[in-house]
Amino acid sequence: MDRRKFITTTGAAAAGALMINPVTGMTGGTAARRTKKRIGLVGTGVRGTGMYGRDLLRNYSDYVEMVGLCDTNPGRLKVAAEAIGAGCPTFTDLEEMIRKQRPETLIVTTEDRTHHEVIIKGMEMGCDIITEKPLTIDEVKAQAIIDAERKYGKRVIVTFNYRYPPYRAKIKELIMEGLIGDIRSVDFHWQISHSHLQAYMMRWHGESNRGGTLWVHKSTHHFDMANWFINSEPVRVQALGTLERFGSKGPFRGKNCRNCAHTSRCPYYWNINDNDWLKRLYADNEHYDGYIRDNCVFRHQIDIHDKHSAIVEYANGTYLNYSLTADTDFSGYWIAFDGTKGRLEARVLGYPRKDHTDLTFTPVRIYNNKPAEVIRVPFASGGHWGGDPIMNDKLFKDPGMPDPLGQQAGVRDGVMSILIGVAARKSIAEGRPVNIGDLTDLKPKVLRPAFT
Ligand SMILES: NC(=O)c1ccc[n+]([C@@H]2O[C@H](COP(=O)([O-])OP(=O)(O)OC[C@H]3O[C@@H](n4cnc5c(N)ncnc54)[C@H](O)[C@@H]3O)[C@@H](O)[C@H]2O)c1
Repeated sequence: MDRRKFITTTGAAAAGALMINPVTGMTGGTAARRTKKRIGLVGTGVRGTGMYGRDLLRNYSDYVEMVGLCDTNPGRLKVAAEAIGAGCPTFTDLEEMIRKQRPETLIVTTEDRTHHEVIIKGMEMGCDIITEKPLTIDEVKAQAIIDAERKYGKRVIVTFNYRYPPYRAKIKELIMEGLIGDIRSVDFHWQISHSHLQAYMMRWHGESNRGGTLWVHKSTHHFDMANWFINSEPVRVQALGTLERFGSKGPFRGKNCRNCAHTSRCPYYWNINDNDWLKRLYADNEHYDGYIRDNCVFRHQIDIHDKHSAIVEYANGTYLNYSLTADTDFSGYWIAFDGTKGRLEARVLGYPRKDHTDLTFTPVRIYNNKPAEVIRVPFASGGHWGGDPIMNDKLFKDPGMPDPLGQQAGVRDGVMSILIGVAARKSIAEGRPVNIGDLTDLKPKVLRPAFT
C-alpha cells in the first residue's frame, strides 16, 4: 500500500505515530525505507541543476538516488550532468528515461509551459511528482492535470517554498492562534527590483504563452501565500495591468544583449559571456533549440505586464487587495491583515542576507487597540529567506514529518493559486470580474481543504 493510500485509510496522525523510528527518531516513510528514493530530474536549467541537482545530492544523498536526468537540449543536459555529478544516465526523451530507469518520483523543473506535459506523462507512467511552481500556465492545462491526478491516483506536490521561511511560518501560526480574530481583508504589495525584472524580461518569462505572464509565473507564489494565510479559496477577481517600459515600449532593440549595438545607452545591458556558468549552460547550447537567455528586453514579443493590481474575493468573505510593481529600485513586500480582533503587519525589505545586519530580526507588528506588540523573528539562512532547506527536509529527508501549519501543497493549491492570475489576465482583457469557479471543475470552498 503506498503512503498516500495508507494515510487516507488510517489517518495522518496514526500513520505518523506508527512509523516513528526508535533509532533515528524520524517519523513516516523515510524511517521505514530500506532503500533510497529513486529520483528522475526533468529540466536541467539553473533551478534543476542547482537546487534539485547539485544541492539535492550534496544534502540528501543518504535518502535519495538520482537515477536519470532529462532535458530536451542535449548540450545543456551534458553540462548540467557534469555539474550535478550524479553519474546517472541522461536522456532527451522523458518516456525513455522513465522506461529504462524506473524513477519513483519525477522532479519537474522545466519551463512553465511544459510542466503539464511532464507531470501528466510522469503520472501515466507510474511516477509521483514533485513540481516547481507554477503548476501550469492556464486553466486548460490545469484541468488536464486535475483529470490526470484523479485518473492515475499518484501523489503530486507543488514546491511552494514561499510558505516555508520561518518569518512566514510565524505569521501563519499567529493567525491560526486567533490573535487578530477572523481575517476580513488583506493588503499585499510586492516589489521587484530592476535586475530581477530584467532577468525575467530577457527570458521566456516575458512571453505570455511561455510563462503565463508574471500574474502566473511570479504571483502564483503570492496568491498561494494569500490562500494559505486566509485559509479559504478565491471566488472572484477584478484586475488592472499594464506594460510600461519593456517590449515595444522600449526606445530601441537588438537581437540579444551580448552583441547589441545599443549597449552604451541601454540601462539593462548584460553580457552573458561574463558569467562562465551561464555561458556554458545556455549560450553555448543555443544552436540546439534557439533558447536565448539574454534576449532584448525591448523585443516586440514581450506581451506581459510589468505592473499589475487585483482585488480578490474569497469564499469566506475576505477581500485581498494585491499589487505587483516590477522594475522599481526596491525589492520586498508589505502584507497586512485586518481581523475582527486586530491587525497584523509584516514588511520585508529585499532578500535578507547574512550581511544585512538590520535584517537579523524581522518584525511582525500586532495592533489590538493598544500600542503595537512587536514580535521579532530571527534571520534564517538558506535559499528564499531560509525556506528552501526546510521544505526540502520534509520532501526528501523525512516525508512523514508533522506539518502542523499545512505547508506542503498539492494540485488543488497549485490550481487555486494560478487561477487567480488566469482570472486577472481575463479580467484585464475583458474588463469584467472573473469567477474562479468558471475556469475549471474545482469549485472554491469556504475552508481551504488541507493537503494530506
Ligand atoms: N520556487 C522558486 O522559487 C523558483 C525559482 C526559480 C525557478 N523556479 C521554477 O523552476 C523552473 C525552471 O526554472 P529555470 O530558471 O531553471 O528555467 P530554464 O528555462 O533555465 O530551464 C528549464 C529547462 O527545461 C528544459 N525543458 C523545457 N521543456 C522541457 C521538456 N518538455 N522536457 C525536458 N526538458 C525541458 C529546457 O531546455 C531548460 O533546460 C520554472 O518552472 C521556474 O518557474 C522556481
